[in-house]
Amino acid sequence: MDFWSSIPGIGLGRGDDRRALEMFIARNPGTCLVMRENGMLAGTVMAGFDGRRGYIYHLAVHPQYQGQGYGQALLEKVITELENLGAQKIHLFVFSHNHQAIEFYRRLGWRERNDIQVMSWETSQTTG
Ligand SMILES: CC(C)(COP(=O)(O)OP(=O)(O)OC[C@H]1O[C@@H](n2cnc3c(N)ncnc32)[C@H](O)[C@@H]1OP(=O)(O)O)[C@@H](O)C(=O)NCCC(=O)NCCS
Repeated sequence: MDFWSSIPGIGLGRGDDRRALEMFIARNPGTCLVMRENGMLAGTVMAGFDGRRGYIYHLAVHPQYQGQGYGQALLEKVITELENLGAQKIHLFVFSHNHQAIEFYRRLGWRERNDIQVMSWETSQTTG
């Protein structure tokens, strides 16, 4: 949480408290990855497979290590893990003002969808 809070572009919200994260990791143990450099957290990615699609969240590289291929390495690793689970298509959400991340994903071959509007429902469920 401290790591993500320090990185612009990562949106934290419901589902990012400790208990919710533990639940997510327990359900998706092979697709929640961290990268360490000299014992320090350098990058993260969390992904889940729902039996149909893969979803990627919180791909983040510490500013000190950005631009050195770490983000690409994390993304490629998590894509491989999702493929191994059977995912045929993978989606992710990026803030539309996060041009840095959008350019990164474009560079790596991801394509924007202009035919889909994301809609959300807030449930009464709490995990904290
Ligand atoms: C987006 C992010 C994960 C990229 O990680 P990174 O380690 O800096 O990126 P990499 O070094 O692996 O870059 C991989 C490729 O993308 C390119 N790239 C990276 N950022 C780019 C940018 N802003 N514009 C154009 N190309 C970019 C790199 O040049 C590289 O291509 P190359 O090998 O041909 O030179 C990182 O910048 C980050 O953590 N940003 C803040 C958090 C965030 O917004 N995450 C996305 C949430 S959806």
